Amino acid sequence: MSALLPELEFDLPESGLINGRDVPAGVIRAPYRWAWQKYLDGCANHWMPQEISMAADIALWNDPHGLTEDERRLVKRNLGFFSTADSLAANNIVLGTYRHISSPECRRYLLRQAFEEALHTHAYQYIVESLGLDEGEIFNMYNEIPSIHEKAAFLLPYIHTLTDPEFHTGTLDADQRLLRSLIVFACIMEGLFFYVGFVQILALGRRNKMVGAAEQYQYILRDESMHLNFGIDLINHIKQENPQLWTDTFATEIRGLIERAVELEYQYAIDTMPRGVLGLNAEMFHEYLRFIANRRCVQIGLAPLYAHAGNPFPWMSEIIDLKKEKNFFETRVTEYRTGGSLAWD
Ligand SMILES: [Fe+2]
Ligand SMILES: [Fe+2]
Repeated sequence: MSALLPELEFDLPESGLINGRDVPAGVIRAPYRWAWQKYLDGCANHWMPQEISMAADIALWNDPHGLTEDERRLVKRNLGFFSTADSLAANNIVLGTYRHISSPECRRYLLRQAFEEALHTHAYQYIVESLGLDEGEIFNMYNEIPSIHEKAAFLLPYIHTLTDPEFHTGTLDADQRLLRSLIVFACIMEGLFFYVGFVQILALGRRNKMVGAAEQYQYILRDESMHLNFGIDLINHIKQENPQLWTDTFATEIRGLIERAVELEYQYAIDTMPRGVLGLNAEMFHEYLRFIANRRCVQIGLAPLYAHAGNPFPWMSEIIDLKKEKNFFETRVTEYRTGGSLAWD
């Protein structure tokens, strides 16, 4: 296959079972070996929400002078958005993508990814319960806050394409629909719609506020960076194997979707930050979202959408590249209990 991906061929010294098939010794072409590696990397990053103490967050939340009204709004809307979004993500993987991607290596990664989405909704639930928030208020924000509703409404048709039992690949149109939905899921949902929320909670943590929630989000961001990278590799693999799908019309349409997504996410920034808070304001996010959108375009082989889009939050890049976080595991409980949960009441 490709000189670009030389590690995808390897020598099998003896015959053996690979993915349930008896394979003779020799040179093996493993076009999805990258997915298997991502599965291993995901497992190596395992974490559980209840390993992180919420004690400082609870004390701060219950202190009437601990947080401003703007900060409280930001936290609640954040949880409202993410709890819905991660449920949609899990559905998309389990009920949609998994059915259409048959490579065993990719499927193994998708199973790991689906479990990580469960961990993320678990984390939001854990934060909501720890702070004693009104679950009805948080989990209903999808219906109450227009920008949260609009983001979900934008995504749903693309998710429904994959979860529709009548949808099958195998024609040019159907294969383009699959590719389009994969791009929307990876580059827009996981790669753009999460980023205002990530910056907001991590900005709180940087000011020593809501440090437990911020640490949970740090783990979630690490998982999501891997989901995004898997999605981008999958998209580029499909592109490479099926160049006929990537027509000029298709590429133009994708650019239009990413542009629309930037505006939806900007609206969410305004709804969650009607005034400046934590040194952040919605206008900074307009630039940040353009910066991210350009990056997503380049990652899937499109020209950047915006001229002069800088990154107003260089510290986010530091957090995304967690290898630089020397003390990342310091607060972590290292032993896992199986067959029981960690009680914290
Ligand atoms: Fe997630
Ligand atoms: Fe994800």
